[in-house]
Amino acid sequence: MTGLSSPIDLRGQVLRNRVMISPMCTYSCAADGLATDWHFVHYGRFALGGAGMVMLEATSVVPEGRHCYSDLGIWSDAHVPPLARIAGFIRSQGAVPAIQLQHAGRKGSARRPWHGGGPMSDEDLRDRDEAPWQTVGPSAVALRPDAPVPRELDEAGMDGIRQAFVDAARRAVDAGFGAVEVHAAHGYLLNQFLSPIANHRTDGWGGSLANRMRFPLSVVEAVRAAIPDDTALIVRVSAVDGVDEGWTLGESVMFARELRARGVDAIDCSSGGIGGAATMNRLARSPGFQVPFAEAIRREAGIATIAVGLILTPEQAERAVAGGRTDIVAIGREALANPNWPNAALTALGGSGDYDHWPPNVGWWLGRRADIIRGFEAEPDAALILAGTDPGPGA
Ligand SMILES: Cc1cc2nc3c(=O)[nH]c(=O)nc-3n(C[C@H](O)[C@H](O)[C@H](O)COP(=O)(O)O)c2cc1C
Repeated sequence: MTGLSSPIDLRGQVLRNRVMISPMCTYSCAADGLATDWHFVHYGRFALGGAGMVMLEATSVVPEGRHCYSDLGIWSDAHVPPLARIAGFIRSQGAVPAIQLQHAGRKGSARRPWHGGGPMSDEDLRDRDEAPWQTVGPSAVALRPDAPVPRELDEAGMDGIRQAFVDAARRAVDAGFGAVEVHAAHGYLLNQFLSPIANHRTDGWGGSLANRMRFPLSVVEAVRAAIPDDTALIVRVSAVDGVDEGWTLGESVMFARELRARGVDAIDCSSGGIGGAATMNRLARSPGFQVPFAEAIRREAGIATIAVGLILTPEQAERAVAGGRTDIVAIGREALANPNWPNAALTALGGSGDYDHWPPNVGWWLGRRADIIRGFEAEPDAALILAGTDPGPGA
């Protein structure tokens, strides 16, 4: 049986186990989008923690494709050296370095969450010297009634963005990343083209499913052609919009089949984010709520999948992989809380005494400590002492 601890090969990129660190924006760049020591330590920590793959956050292919000013960027060659330092360290610790490429489209020009989220305004210019910018989208349809209206992209604009994804993917390869993930989820630009909620076009890029898929597929095709055969290509999708009249799971299966035919190696299955009125949202969140999407896409489209979303415990992750529901699990916030989550999960699943897969300068000590604890647990008062209810020596 294939479990969490078993390796998986994506185009020659071998993940030592089935745990990927999910891409998570850190909002930690200056406006130049350059990775800093902060990013180096943050992402390096996940590699030390035992993940099979460490995926860097949504990284913008053009400055105007950023969600926020503080997003990571890869729109120039100057971005490559600090990213290469991160990728090199991740690789040196036995994990596959991966990077997510984004264009936020109409979701751009947003505030950082701790500045209130939502679209920027003149207040941001006044308070932080950060001016809002004109966003773009498949159609001149705002994310919400109170959000700015994006400029509808013409074909020249679409050609430019496709080329920016290609250039970004080449830079990612130059930086040493073994996998590139195209962000087509969460209401970002490529998701906007897919979804009838955001795409109201009446030309060849909107309307039917084939037309709505055309631009995202053309981006993926161009990226695949630009990167080496042994660079894995992943696409993150919102498997469902989760809103009335939105993108459906059936459409995701069709999209995944087309992606597989274009050399995509895995589908990272998230959901939601397209916008619309809050009352339209039909997605209930509970532990593992998106695993069924990964399972359906894996089964119906015959492609490897990554399941993500409220995967909290090692047992839950193990069941998803060993039960054949997904090939890989992505861990987000649990890894923020504990960057050692992958190593700790494998230890827990192995019976809590096995630290051999940890870096030896950590695992050796934890293994010895486990021996001491096992010996101590045989003592008569051990349970009381561990529960903190022993009377203590002075009683
Ligand atoms: C702080 C934060 C930043 C995120 N940034 C991204 C991102 O850059 N790209 C993306 O596709 N998803 C992003 N997500 C979503 C996560 O990748 C993940 O899908 C989500 O958190 C659910 O997984 P979890 O329950 O394990 O955290 C972000 C989530 C968080 C909490």
